[in-house]
Amino acid sequence: VHIVVHSDGGNKTSDTPYGLMHEDINNAGDGGIYAELIRNRAFQGSPLYHANLSGWTPINAAVLSLKQLSTPLSSALPNSINVAISKNSSTTGSIGISNDGYWGIDVRKQKYKGSFYVRGDYEGTFVASLKSALTNETFGSVTIPSECSADQWVQHNFTLIPPKAAANSNNTFTLTFTPSGAASGSLDFNLISLFPPTYKDRENGLRIDIAEAFAALNPKFLRFPGGNALEGPNLQYPWNWNETIGPLKNRPGRPGVWGYQTSDGLGLVDYLNWCTDMELEPILAIWSGLALDGAYINETDLQPWVEDALNEIEFVTGDVSTSYGKLRAELGYPEPWTLKYVEVGNEDWLAGAPSGFDSYKQYRFEAFNTAIKAKHPEIQIIASPSVYDNFTVPAGAAGDYHPYRQPDNYYNEFHKLDNLTSSNLTLVGEFASVHPNGGIDWDGNLHPFPWWIGSVGEAIFMISTERNGDRVIGATYAPILRNMNRWQWSACMIEFEADTSKTTLSTSWHTFQLISTHQITHTLPTTPAEGNTTSLFWVAGKNEGADGFVFKAANYNTTNSEPTPVNIKVEGVEKGTRAQLTLLTSDGGPFAYNDPATGNNAVVTTTKVVVADGEGVFGFEMPELSVAVLDGTKG
Ligand code: AHR
Repeated sequence: VHIVVHSDGGNKTSDTPYGLMHEDINNAGDGGIYAELIRNRAFQGSPLYHANLSGWTPINAAVLSLKQLSTPLSSALPNSINVAISKNSSTTGSIGISNDGYWGIDVRKQKYKGSFYVRGDYEGTFVASLKSALTNETFGSVTIPSECSADQWVQHNFTLIPPKAAANSNNTFTLTFTPSGAASGSLDFNLISLFPPTYKDRENGLRIDIAEAFAALNPKFLRFPGGNALEGPNLQYPWNWNETIGPLKNRPGRPGVWGYQTSDGLGLVDYLNWCTDMELEPILAIWSGLALDGAYINETDLQPWVEDALNEIEFVTGDVSTSYGKLRAELGYPEPWTLKYVEVGNEDWLAGAPSGFDSYKQYRFEAFNTAIKAKHPEIQIIASPSVYDNFTVPAGAAGDYHPYRQPDNYYNEFHKLDNLTSSNLTLVGEFASVHPNGGIDWDGNLHPFPWWIGSVGEAIFMISTERNGDRVIGATYAPILRNMNRWQWSACMIEFEADTSKTTLSTSWHTFQLISTHQITHTLPTTPAEGNTTSLFWVAGKNEGADGFVFKAANYNTTNSEPTPVNIKVEGVEKGTRAQLTLLTSDGGPFAYNDPATGNNAVVTTTKVVVADGEGVFGFEMPELSVAVLDGTKG
């Protein structure tokens, strides 16, 4: 293939070409990027997922019971655990509780910060430890003097630095005390928490290895808190922003939509801190009056929810003279965040269709759009359907497109985004290859892991978003995270377990990372304009922050095992100019994948310098099913 990259023309692209999407699915939040190590730390429950003692087991002669005391820790956290000595026991030793974490705890020689609340009169000490669940070996422990006071909940804080690392994550956290020192023979505990070091050392922060795998994607935005998680399982439980802020003891948690109760430890401010720490533009999704069971708010009852969304935006962006800006300042954040994007709902074309979608078209979107625009003309409002979802996006608003596909679909739909007009700004708030070619799509299973041909298909799609980067706000894969111990959706970009050494970067992480880290800020036209006689798809451009061109290509050749020769003439480039070529191929053919059992082997990365010949042409070869970036800003 011979391609000329012209030095003039093209268009400026979005500042946010790629980003992240987060919701609590697959324990992506609790037990995922949210670094808390203790599972069921506050015994949160709901009518959908009743409070229970899962994760907790007694130590020695302890008897554990779930209580709803008349003086709970807080109205948000009404349940607690009572630890009593068994009636039949004559032990004078300690008793306590053990937590097995999110299916294990990673124990290293590092500082863990912990805390717990106790109620009861107790003279003595507590011992907090990290131990092997297999051998009971103690890797580290700390003695904490009691500060208990009768009839009050008293918080105890501690740090624990194990002198020894554990060989695996089959470990527990234990908390013990001597029952003879407790006036009533038992103690009540709640909000028992343990954090390892966090990303950028943020209090209540993110798990470092996962956050670093995110940051390595060069993301520019974070779309949160969903996804379906925003919608809530029914009208009683939308994602209520104001129940996710402030001290952890004031957060009741909520029944998630993915089969488990969520803690809301990762709340609105924590998402915004995440944006700050990774320099991401928040794309805040506000509840639009639709629940995942299809129920929606009638027009006459919608106004309070519109007010609620305005309050949420004021909480994020208002200065301290506003009521909600003041509330934020009181919680320790006097500086407002900037909000450029607000999305109204999630996939409002899907749950409850057709009447739910009709309600969005007839009054729900309009109500939010008008009110937010009037108060915040600086915010770009995004509707949750796109122009591809049988929705006419009103002037001034943008849409959100979620192409979950078979790999071949991305090949066939390469030109789909070309039809966007300048008034059709579109976010790609979720995309991924999820079904095999020729499969039965949503009537079948999702693919078990991202797989090579799927990831090359996604690369074609990403190239198509960049070619239209003046109208595509940005694109993000979804869902990104999957805890291998409890998941609802396979084919995620990163698989993980408690053991941080098992974190697996899928084939899709690798293709996304290559494409997103070589940023194009301005496209450059090419001749031919697109791959037509071959399987090659490309985009060319420049990065105005650096000197030189960037060329990205995906070769979706499934029929010919011969590599495709690629010759790129870049106008203005002289003989001897150097460019860095990075080529991704598969070690195991189209169906190869990375998973925690097999490791990070499926993708082969080759990097070399290519030098322009006497005609100013860079020549290289792209094997069948490969992704390449030729970066003229590096050489
Ligand atoms: O990414 C998983 C789910 O797919 C999201 O929650 C939803 O928006 C989409 O249907």
